[in-house]
Amino acid sequence: MGNFSTEDIKELKSRLPIVEELMAKKLELQRNIPSYTDKKIQRAIKVLENLNTSIDFFERLSFADQEALDTLINFNFYHQNNRFQSMAKRRLTNINTDHWPQGMLSCLSWKNLPLIKTVEDYAVIPLIIQNLRPRTIIEIGSGSGASALWMADHLQINNINGKVYSIDIHPASFENKSIEFIKGDAKQIEYLIPKKMALDLPHPWLIVDDAHQTIQSVLAYFEPLMHIGDYVYVEDSFKQQEIIGEFLMIKKNSFLVDTFYTDFFGRNSVSAKNSILKKIK
Ligand SMILES: C[S@@+](CC[C@H](N)C(=O)[O-])C[C@H]1O[C@@H](n2cnc3c(N)ncnc32)[C@H](O)[C@@H]1O
Repeated sequence: MGNFSTEDIKELKSRLPIVEELMAKKLELQRNIPSYTDKKIQRAIKVLENLNTSIDFFERLSFADQEALDTLINFNFYHQNNRFQSMAKRRLTNINTDHWPQGMLSCLSWKNLPLIKTVEDYAVIPLIIQNLRPRTIIEIGSGSGASALWMADHLQINNINGKVYSIDIHPASFENKSIEFIKGDAKQIEYLIPKKMALDLPHPWLIVDDAHQTIQSVLAYFEPLMHIGDYVYVEDSFKQQEIIGEFLMIKKNSFLVDTFYTDFFGRNSVSAKNSILKKIK
């Protein structure tokens, strides 16, 4: 963290217009949905724009700013390197491992649509689909629609007769017989999937919340409608631990964290930190 010198920062500042352009292109390909890495890079760009390197700026950088600058240094570094390199060059320069779970230069994709998932979620969600065999998947936050399509394809691969309902303020624009895109604000989920409709949706359910900040309304609404064995998967939940924890305390014992999935690659290695929840009563 903060492993950079004044010279690194000066060089980065001189490359700022190039880096800004690269970032704009990346976001355009992602339909302007930033990953967490992108958000850090955007923060670092702002820090750099306002940074006066003639004074002692290191003292003034917050932890989050340092982390953001570290990320931008990597983004810049990877862009300046050729994709194909000799083994000798790589061994001589660095054998350490970097890990950017949502991708550094680009995000993941499914059938050429941008898929804003961490690589761990990308591995674990298909495993849940395979094991749970959900008849209904409710996704909050469609993005480009890639994730709904990806999950619908996994239903098909596993011969599951199921359907994906995917909600977004800005719904995806393509059609697929296994997906229903629903336009609306998930904070008012009761109007988007009314109770009468929800009662008809076959179980098991897999509810994937990827909209951030909608989890309170989503959990409160669906909890009484869920059956034993249904699952909730709250992505990017590291800032939502208190909300989820409070909810679980109020609904004593109605959900348990399924650590087989949360800890699959090591403790809480997925983005759904402590938040792959199985309804148990
Ligand atoms: C991180 S993206 C989803 C990415 C997608 N699930 C994927 O894996 O590629 C978050 C999405 O949530 C949507 N969103 C944010 N707040 C929302 C809300 N209150 N109700 C519905 N959708 C919302 C945004 O429009 C955005 O498309």
